[in-house]
Amino acid sequence: MKHDVSITIDGKTVALPVLEATAGLDVIDVRGLISEGLFTFDPGFLSTASCESKITYIDGDAGVLTYRGYPIEALASGAEHLEVCYLLLHGELPTQAELAQFKSDINERMPIDAQFAKIFDGFTATAHPMSMLCAGVGGLAALFHEGLDIYNADHRMESAMQLIAKVPTLAAMSYRKSIGREFVDPDPSLGYAENFLNMCFGESGKPSSVSPTLASALDRIFILHADHEQNASTSTVRLAGSTECNPYAAIAAGIAALWGPSHGGANEAVLDMLNEIGDVAVVNDYVAKAKDKDDPFKLMGFGHRVYKNFDPRALVMQESCHAVLAEQGVEDEPLLKIATTLEKMAREEPYFIERKLYPNIDFYSGITLKAMGIPTPMYTALFALGRTPGWISHWSEMLSVPFKIGRPRQLYTGPTQRDFVPISDR
Ligand code: ACO
Repeated sequence: MKHDVSITIDGKTVALPVLEATAGLDVIDVRGLISEGLFTFDPGFLSTASCESKITYIDGDAGVLTYRGYPIEALASGAEHLEVCYLLLHGELPTQAELAQFKSDINERMPIDAQFAKIFDGFTATAHPMSMLCAGVGGLAALFHEGLDIYNADHRMESAMQLIAKVPTLAAMSYRKSIGREFVDPDPSLGYAENFLNMCFGESGKPSSVSPTLASALDRIFILHADHEQNASTSTVRLAGSTECNPYAAIAAGIAALWGPSHGGANEAVLDMLNEIGDVAVVNDYVAKAKDKDDPFKLMGFGHRVYKNFDPRALVMQESCHAVLAEQGVEDEPLLKIATTLEKMAREEPYFIERKLYPNIDFYSGITLKAMGIPTPMYTALFALGRTPGWISHWSEMLSVPFKIGRPRQLYTGPTQRDFVPISDR
């Protein structure tokens, strides 16, 4: 312990220990305050560390993101997604033999049982892929519940591998359902991202024709999304998991939290916004709308709760984005022109500069996925696929040490107790 802070309440001084971080901010341990009859008040958790974690570190001001100590730039350029999954789950990079075993473990678990696949019969083709993914992943709890001991590390690793393996299959099935096509089975001879693309766009029984450039760009997107410490969806997974619920149910809760446009839904919202803008000539009007306090319109894909200078993932993604645009020969596509004009304008506008609003990863991933020909409603499902190893690593980390059920308190400002009036007298 480095130093303590103290607060004085009604003349009584209470010492609060400061817990040291290995990197980043130390935290004031306020757990003792409840015995003094006080809660802290921090809506949106802007000043609150909800847990201790050894997985991912972010320095928002310096634009640093590391998984288990390794910078995101190094992982995105030197590793493949399943290697990163292994790192997040085990805490160390795999050896070649360990990675080969992990890949084979994942491939083995990718198929979805035909009986279970009937869950998709309950949906119409207009259902959003995120609703189907949420139901599909939550539904896996039905297959893996009896005998599952969440306090057993081997059982947790099995759940992690099942999820990393089955989320791509379920996401691809959601897409195939939405276009009214039959499902394509996973092919164990393909890489993780290639397999996913083939299950989405391939033909049953035919060899994959997925472009290696697109497969590698998608693999990189998965790496960039793999974890982001205690964001809204990961915190949701931890909160749900803290009730000791089934892990597949906890991950379904994370998928639900990810869906919103302030979080994972932003990549889809970016494309909706670009479509709404529709013409380079009116980009200026939309920038003016975003600056207008009386207009709820926000520029989707700009700003971040934690990164206030730049999003390191956005820089890597920007590079991949340009590579994909060039490979697909779509640099002149109207929507992408609107995107580049918007990016340039927002970067030059004092409103955005003063508030440190920069394009985030969703801005570039939205454009990249569009250039890759991925339909917009699938974007957030792809984010969920990428984030699954992060969610399950946090869930497992929480269960591997003593923890408490997540149960925030409140500042009550409603009416004080009043007399009930029977309905006949109202
Ligand atoms: N467009 C216009 N103005 C914005 C934007 C935006 N995208 N984002 C923030 N602002 C303004 C706010 O109005 C506020 O202005 P004020 O100081 O004059 O009141 C100021 O910038 C600070 O914004 P906050 O809302 O306090 O920032 P916060 O950290 O709470 O929110 C968030 C971050 C939710 C990401 C927000 O920037 C936003 O909604 N962005 C658009 C959606 C988006 O891209 N989300 C993806 C997040 S990244 C991810 O999930 C991977």
